[in-house]
Amino acid sequence: MSEKKRDTWGSRATFILASIGSAVGLGNAWRFPGLAAKHGGGTFLLVYLVALFLIGIPLLMMEVSIARKFHKGAIESMRGINKKAEFIGWASTANAFVIVTYYAVVFAWVILMVFMSYRFAGMTGDAVAASNVFANATETTWDVTGYTVPLAVLICGGVAWATIYYCIRNGAHSVGKVVKYTVFVPIILLLVMAVKGCTMPGAGEGLKMFFIPKIEAFSDASLWIDAIGQVFYSLSIMMAIMFAYGSYLDESTNLATDCCIIAFSDAAVSILSGIVMFSTMGGVGMLDNISSSGIATAFIIYPQAIVNMTNVGWFNALFGVIFYLMLATLAIDSAFSIVEGVSASISDKFRVNPRKVTKIVCGITGVISFIYMTRSGLAWLDIVDNWTNQINLILIGIMECVAIGWFFDVDKVVKQINRNTTKFKMPRIWLRASIRFIAPIALTILFVWNIYNLFVVNHGHYGYALWAECIAGWAVSALVFLSGAIAKIVIHFKKKKGFVESEIEWKEED
Ligand code: PHE
Repeated sequence: MSEKKRDTWGSRATFILASIGSAVGLGNAWRFPGLAAKHGGGTFLLVYLVALFLIGIPLLMMEVSIARKFHKGAIESMRGINKKAEFIGWASTANAFVIVTYYAVVFAWVILMVFMSYRFAGMTGDAVAASNVFANATETTWDVTGYTVPLAVLICGGVAWATIYYCIRNGAHSVGKVVKYTVFVPIILLLVMAVKGCTMPGAGEGLKMFFIPKIEAFSDASLWIDAIGQVFYSLSIMMAIMFAYGSYLDESTNLATDCCIIAFSDAAVSILSGIVMFSTMGGVGMLDNISSSGIATAFIIYPQAIVNMTNVGWFNALFGVIFYLMLATLAIDSAFSIVEGVSASISDKFRVNPRKVTKIVCGITGVISFIYMTRSGLAWLDIVDNWTNQINLILIGIMECVAIGWFFDVDKVVKQINRNTTKFKMPRIWLRASIRFIAPIALTILFVWNIYNLFVVNHGHYGYALWAECIAGWAVSALVFLSGAIAKIVIHFKKKKGFVESEIEWKEED
């Protein structure tokens, strides 16, 4: 087991681009506008920005700086913070592993829709036919039964996995090469769509709805909850990703500035997507249809808008291609970043060749992802997505903040963040307050809210068969949180064969 030199980013821009690529994903394109529609447009925008300042930016800096200090992925970095906290690193890696299995399939569906868009040409004005294109192509049963895999989905799944593997086959090296394209292409496509959207009559209505805050929306408690959840999801934190990306940084990085650039770029793309969504929906008179369920928006509602854009069939079809290509290029760098997070985390822990781990992770998650490619895949994906994001991710966030805020010295983290900056220093009080109090408290409220919704509002399950939710929801969550304990057993046996766990600790250099 030779310790080879660690991968590093080729340049400062590469790290920033790769992180923006990860942060900017399907969440920006379909979740953000949907939440804005739910919460009075501008009102949500304002609260989102506040949550970004109070929680998003400090936690992003926290993860990146700790990983840069140790040059290790999530598991080892958390072990470095406190040996007892290692299981939190395992939980976030395991949760990321689960997310990989389905995010790749969402990516595959988007690719499928790029090809299916030709069908919009013959559907001008026919919203019902358009809304069925996705369901027909994936042959979805909308339920947890139906286990065959349609050929088209299988092929797109193969393409999705091949692309993901190609992008990360050489770790930071190959990631650096592709993010130059995968970050800018979707932004260009979004700009093209914004021009079309904003020039449609009726677009003004939509833009007004998006930008002008509605005062009465402030009184809704779920506004804050949704904003915090969105900030959290969108920045790719607590997913082992920012640990991996931070671990490839060199000592001279100015973390304070770079993380702000990442967070603001992410917010900017969310706003741009909002402009596209609201202007287009205003243009086709469908403003009331914007929903916060991403899958429904992208695959069912948006097609209805596409066929109503103009009277020219081929133009609508072309617009469909642009829309789904935009989604595909948005999704790709988020998809591979999360695989990279998992494989960096595991290869650092066991000090094995990261390239090999990447292959194994892609292989295993690839096989598991067949579940979501089946005719019942949509339902399974919905269940897993609910649990990984609304329960696991939030719990991991709380535990990570408590471990770092209360069982470690936050000042050391602050010092790391501000190490290479003289001009723009992150105020100590901001980070301390956020990591120790604001973030864990806000996340706890969010967690309790989600649990309340699940048990009280939804009577214990989200609407699928209880057995399915027990397996794909609760059992998977249990495995995620037990992963640290399971790993301990594996390590115990590995130790008998001579494996030595690394002693990793935070040494102050100056
Ligand atoms: N930040 C991503 C988004 O907005 C979330 C994500 C990243 C999900 C990586 C999965 C993997 O879509």
